[in-house]
Amino acid sequence: MKKYKYAIEVKNLTKKFETFAVNDVSFKIKKGEIFAFLGPNGAGKTTTINMITTLLRPTSGSIKVAGYDTVKHPNDVRNIIGIVFQDSTLDRELTAYENLYIHGRIYGYRGDDLKNRINSMLKFVELENHANKVVKTFSGGMKRRLEIARSLIHNPEILFLDEPTIGLDPQTRSHIWEYIERMKKEYNMTIFLTTHYMEEAESLADRIAIIDNGKIIAIGTVDELKSMIGNDMIYLKFANNLDSECVKNILNILNEHFGNSNIINGIFEIRVKNANESIPKIFEIALKNSWKILEVSYRKPTLNDVFIHLTGKSIRERGGNFDMKKIFAKRRGML
Ligand SMILES: Nc1ncnc2c1ncn2[C@@H]1O[C@H](COP(=O)(O)OP(=O)(O)OP(=O)(O)O)[C@@H](O)[C@H]1O
Ligand SMILES: [Mg+2]
Repeated sequence: MKKYKYAIEVKNLTKKFETFAVNDVSFKIKKGEIFAFLGPNGAGKTTTINMITTLLRPTSGSIKVAGYDTVKHPNDVRNIIGIVFQDSTLDRELTAYENLYIHGRIYGYRGDDLKNRINSMLKFVELENHANKVVKTFSGGMKRRLEIARSLIHNPEILFLDEPTIGLDPQTRSHIWEYIERMKKEYNMTIFLTTHYMEEAESLADRIAIIDNGKIIAIGTVDELKSMIGNDMIYLKFANNLDSECVKNILNILNEHFGNSNIINGIFEIRVKNANESIPKIFEIALKNSWKILEVSYRKPTLNDVFIHLTGKSIRERGGNFDMKKIFAKRRGML
């Protein structure tokens, strides 16, 4: 097994179709790390994965996977990676076992060795009782689990998961998250995943790159990303409808004391280091200025807040052509 520190090193990576799908992107992923690309539809996630996995040639820039240059040594790269594509590539007419068998043979496994690997991977994704059923009878979640099993058959060191849980119910999603965590823990696998589910990136990834319009706009651990916008968010709702003069006045006072204050849909938003310390201070100020506050609430910032902070829009708003019906139809092979 080759020794390397960085599983993936991407430098100034660019892909131009009609416009730039990926635009001067650089990052490094350490061995054993779970790294997530979080971004809306069309951000450039799949294009980046396709280039790293040797399926697409970069317009410019360089990529090393386990130290191998992807353009000069594509076969070395392919031998040590596993991929779960965004769209299903299973053979629907074959059984689960047969799908895995073909994949194993392509990678040079055979005999008992292959049989044992297939059985152990089917067990890993809890499909051992469905081995001999044809895939077209599988639910979306079962297919996704089978694809994960297939990607693991040849014992890859680095695994790519392009939107591993898109369109799945919460229970199946949490199963898949569990498999991903086990792959890291039990096999010390490096995992690169893409998602537009913020909670998925947050709960799984050691580090996250937020990508928008082909560019990485922020990169770091969840805590590092959240600290970009202050630690807690406090929300104030007033009892009366306020005229614009009043709103201006309140904002001025809040900004004087806390900075970082805003009004969104009639609710005041204040970013502070520690809400527990700031809320009593807000009541003091309210009393002094005879403010009639109806509701106070607070929460920790989410990755969506980080995205809004950086782009002015939420991830969902940005992915304007996000069409769940279309995605489901595509998954069922109807498009
Ligand atoms: N083969 C192609 N030819 C032309 N344009 C392409 C091609 N593949 C992707 N693009 C464009 O590149 C941009 C990035 O697409 P990509 O599929 O990488 O986005 P994504 O982040 O994976 O989005 P999604 O969340 O919808 O999967 C999009 O504007 C897309 O239309
Ligand atoms: Mg994609």
